[in-house]
Amino acid sequence: MPALRRIDQLLANLGYCSRSEARDWIRSGAVTIRGEAVDDFGAKVDPAEVRVDGEPLDHPDGLLLLLHKPVGLVCSHDGREGPSVYTLLPERWRRRNPVVTSVGRLDKETSGLLLLTDQSELVHRLTSPKHKVPKIYRATLDRDLDPTLVALFAAGSLQLEDEKQPCAPAELRIVSPREAELTLTEGKYHQVRRMFAAAGNTVLTLHRARFGTLELGDLPPGQWREMSLPFPF
Ligand code: URA
Repeated sequence: MPALRRIDQLLANLGYCSRSEARDWIRSGAVTIRGEAVDDFGAKVDPAEVRVDGEPLDHPDGLLLLLHKPVGLVCSHDGREGPSVYTLLPERWRRRNPVVTSVGRLDKETSGLLLLTDQSELVHRLTSPKHKVPKIYRATLDRDLDPTLVALFAAGSLQLEDEKQPCAPAELRIVSPREAELTLTEGKYHQVRRMFAAAGNTVLTLHRARFGTLELGDLPPGQWREMSLPFPF
């Protein structure tokens, strides 16, 4: 049995328009169900059956996007923090309620794989340290890496300033003297940069190559790919 939703609220929540504008649209006959104009804006409807100007609804069951975040955009909805990853999305998606948000955050100067969704349970599930979803970061450093960092990061005892818990064990693979791949299963604030800083290195560039089993493939920076819901845990 599909979940029925009130038509004016449904259109507003999917970012089509305000609820009062939805009522005008409905009165104008633009909204149909199985070919029949809806005349009651309080009608409870199956979203799959609704058409607006003859078109099916835009992702009525939720959105999940895999974005290649470029450097220079923030993951915040607060415009005062600068241009955000949300500016890359169509207006209608930016007006959705629940709001489309990132699954965790990447710093302004970090590029790479970022999931965006309006499914709050999914955000919770994928960001909770309890579930230990592995994230792989590629970093370039300002000086040659000390091979003893591999054991230091793996030990699970590295304590960062102002954190209650030490960093969980993390796998470091030294790719070349100043390049490394670090796998984390948690997401403390600026964690990769702070872990390397604690060991005397400065991260020059940072890119997230993987999130769980997901990879960017050949997706260019600034582009996204739609993922199907429910998420394949
Ligand atoms: N760690 C960081 O330092 N920055 C990021 O963007 C992600 C992880």
